[in-house]
Amino acid sequence: PKKAAEGPLVGAVVQGTDCSRFLVFNSKTAELVTHYQVELTQEFPKEGWVEQDPKEILQSVYECIEKTCEKLDKLNIDIANIKAIGVSNQRETTIVWDKLTGEPLYNAVVWLDLRTQATVENLSKKIPGNNNFVKSKTGLPLSTYFSAVKLRWILDNVRKVQKAVEDGRALFGTIDSWLIWSLTGGVNGGVHCTDVTNASRTMLFNIHSLEWDKELCEFFEIPMEILPKVWSSSEIYGQMKTGSLEGVPISGCLGDQSAALIGQMCFQEGQAKNTYGTGCFLLCNTGRHCVFSEHGLLTTVAYKLGRDKPVIYALEGSVAIAGAAVHWLKDNLGILETSEEIEILAKEVGTSYGCYFIPAFSGLYAPYWEPSARGIICGLTQFTNKCHIAFAALEAICFQTREILDAMIRDCGIPFNHLQVDGKMTNNKILMQLQADILHIPIVKPCIIETTALGVAMAAGAAEGVGVWSLEPENLSAIVMERFEPQIKATESEIRYATWKRAVMRSMGWVT
Ligand code: G3P
Repeated sequence: PKKAAEGPLVGAVVQGTDCSRFLVFNSKTAELVTHYQVELTQEFPKEGWVEQDPKEILQSVYECIEKTCEKLDKLNIDIANIKAIGVSNQRETTIVWDKLTGEPLYNAVVWLDLRTQATVENLSKKIPGNNNFVKSKTGLPLSTYFSAVKLRWILDNVRKVQKAVEDGRALFGTIDSWLIWSLTGGVNGGVHCTDVTNASRTMLFNIHSLEWDKELCEFFEIPMEILPKVWSSSEIYGQMKTGSLEGVPISGCLGDQSAALIGQMCFQEGQAKNTYGTGCFLLCNTGRHCVFSEHGLLTTVAYKLGRDKPVIYALEGSVAIAGAAVHWLKDNLGILETSEEIEILAKEVGTSYGCYFIPAFSGLYAPYWEPSARGIICGLTQFTNKCHIAFAALEAICFQTREILDAMIRDCGIPFNHLQVDGKMTNNKILMQLQADILHIPIVKPCIIETTALGVAMAAGAAEGVGVWSLEPENLSAIVMERFEPQIKATESEIRYATWKRAVMRSMGWVT
């Protein structure tokens, strides 16, 4: 007979830009039991376009779930111990599908995609009243980043979608909606829903009333009937319809950055975390207050852990390119064999030797919101080699984080005495040390760096009707695993930061 685990288990789907994962946690100890991961393809059909195949994404999630169940079986753990599943996902990425066939009607337009630049320019000329119309309702600047403009582009350009909307067959969703609809049955009664955190990234959602906003939908000309129902981040949305986990409730849904905020136990106002993934996302819990930034940050919904629970907001600094710059060095320039090799190269030289790398591949997000910027590598001499460029790429991630942390300090008025970090790149010790040096505060890494998965597992396990995860304050403190203290003088980091800023100015206005 299979043994029961020491506590009920909770599964977490983590659907990111470069891979899908399924992780299983013990809800009593918060320990990771096992997991499985599948890499994903990104398509770049034209310059600035980034797409993914929604079916590949869905298949990868099914594969992760099944393989994880096989691993549990090998560990002699009964999969019946899995009492709930949470879904966390790359945010903003936009899908339209046919509710009668279950077929996607176009590829997923990924959050990084820049094709909507002209759409954004045209819309910004039409903004009614004051320029604050969109930002005051959504907390977001009008940018190619968010779903509304991607959906507008799809509606304008894809005939199949136009026809499906006319016929009442089209459904829109971010990745969470597509997954939950499919996993709960798809054409056979799938639940078309999203949660408040994902909805808050569409630019159609009013973050004060927590409803789709009619005026915004009129402004972007989006038919409201294709939008999913918006639920809290922790409640039962439906049950798994097929596979080894058939019947298990899906009861957590969070955008990946919100999930990481929870997984880092940032439940108090003023607590912040930075996640290093494809991009870099620094979120600071602002409690029940919707704080509007004057320094280029976003106001977003952090979480709402239950239908009757309060909504908690966050200030967010979003950096488009972090880990993606490392992938670019590997895949486009071929100077790395593996992503991990960047640490070896950077360590070899320990300096960029005056080389600065601005990875503005998708323009610049926070705090600049400058779509005209493009990537540059500058300060090159005949002495510069691939190790210096590798070092400059890591430094770029740290400087970008410094820019958003500075903006956050200006908006919140309080200094940070340390920064909590997570994400795969935090395994890179050179990066973490550089980050401590450039911010000139300690960097703190929790013992579970799978914070995104942990956060959504907590939301799923704590949902009403599941109740296997306790969100009592005594269970909610992050256990620190590693600390990186600044090792250079503040004056030295200031000089390097000032040079970085000069380089940023040169990347701007490249596209006219
Ligand atoms: O807003 C985009 C973000 O959610 C993507 O996350 O993990 O793919 O870098 P990630």
